[in-house]
Amino acid sequence: MKRITFLIFLTFTVLISNLPVFAEGVSSEITVFTDIPPDAWYIADVNSLTEAGLIDCSEGRFYPDKQLTCAEAVKLAVSINQLHYNGAVLIEQGEPWYKPYCEYLSDIGVDVSALDMEAEATRAEYIYIFASALKDSDLEAINQIPDGAITDVAADLPYVEAIYKFYRAGIICGSDENRSCHPDEYIKRSEAAAVAVRILDKERRIRFDMKEPVKHTLEVIDGVTYIDGVLIVNKTYPLPPEYAPGGLTKECSEAFVKLQAAAWKDGLNIYSVSDYRSYEYQKGLYQRYAARDGAAAADRYSARPGHSEHQTGLAIDCNSVYQSFADTAAGRWLAAHCHEYGFIIRYPKGAESITGYMFEPWHIRYLGNEMASKIHESGLTLEEYFGITSEYAE
Ligand code: DAL
Ligand code: ZN
Repeated sequence: MKRITFLIFLTFTVLISNLPVFAEGVSSEITVFTDIPPDAWYIADVNSLTEAGLIDCSEGRFYPDKQLTCAEAVKLAVSINQLHYNGAVLIEQGEPWYKPYCEYLSDIGVDVSALDMEAEATRAEYIYIFASALKDSDLEAINQIPDGAITDVAADLPYVEAIYKFYRAGIICGSDENRSCHPDEYIKRSEAAAVAVRILDKERRIRFDMKEPVKHTLEVIDGVTYIDGVLIVNKTYPLPPEYAPGGLTKECSEAFVKLQAAAWKDGLNIYSVSDYRSYEYQKGLYQRYAARDGAAAADRYSARPGHSEHQTGLAIDCNSVYQSFADTAAGRWLAAHCHEYGFIIRYPKGAESITGYMFEPWHIRYLGNEMASKIHESGLTLEEYFGITSEYAE
């Protein structure tokens, strides 16, 4: 099978510090590759590399979703390194074909002996290979990224230094609102092209700053988990069977009366259909659901004993336990206003993989006005807000 790789023209002699590698006004719509859609996010990057002679376009296909092997990543890194520091790529393939590239890296003090050259490169490995092949002066920090700010890059992760260097230099910026790195995932050729362009062209590096990560305090008191003082119950964090306030707490009950009065003023009747449930009561409830629908199905909507928020005396099911409640005037009012009275919709739509439960527009959890408003405004679930999971141990 033909090996797909970036082709570096051996005669190419432009120094990247001058940056005329990339032509002005490279088209961001037209591509010579038949497998790149005209609206692909990486089209300008691939066009730049192609114009610069860094990608072989003779075959007419780019294979944007194909993953790069470590050997291919090493070859690209070495070629860029040579081009940058020596003005030309003067290295030829050996046996195996990537051996001279590995030796070159070794000569400049980069140890790639732990990498499986024939295997796909993870994002962390790709970053390590490239970061090591460049001098620090080409990776100056333009972004403020405190240590620990990239939540999926733990301090003891291999290649953590290289990853932070690339974030700080604006060569990578992560994905999603947390700017996650996904260090163990494989890197696609489209993503590799974007990274290579940002290595070569400082103008294309991305500027952004990140704040210190918020640190939360988790305490377990008498078997009950509190994060920043907030009692937490979900699939990960249980309550002991003997935790039994016997009813709604005073604060929760008073807040619900205020909520009801405000809804009533707006012409709506909001009432409780289920609030405090003891460990034993939940046990019977869950067992009935599991017998009826099977445990896997029941786990999507009913908590196992010791895992229900109803045992806290801080949760209330309002009006109707059907998802159609969300589309009623009362359901809409509850979603829009419950935080003003200290509650949140605990299991929002589309968050089952995070909260552990299907959408429950009727289930509100008392947190107090300040915390409920913070969470409402964040648009996050309680799990996301505190950075916790909701998964049964077995
Ligand atoms: N329906 C919610 C998840 C409970 O059983 O506590
Ligand atoms: Zn409920």
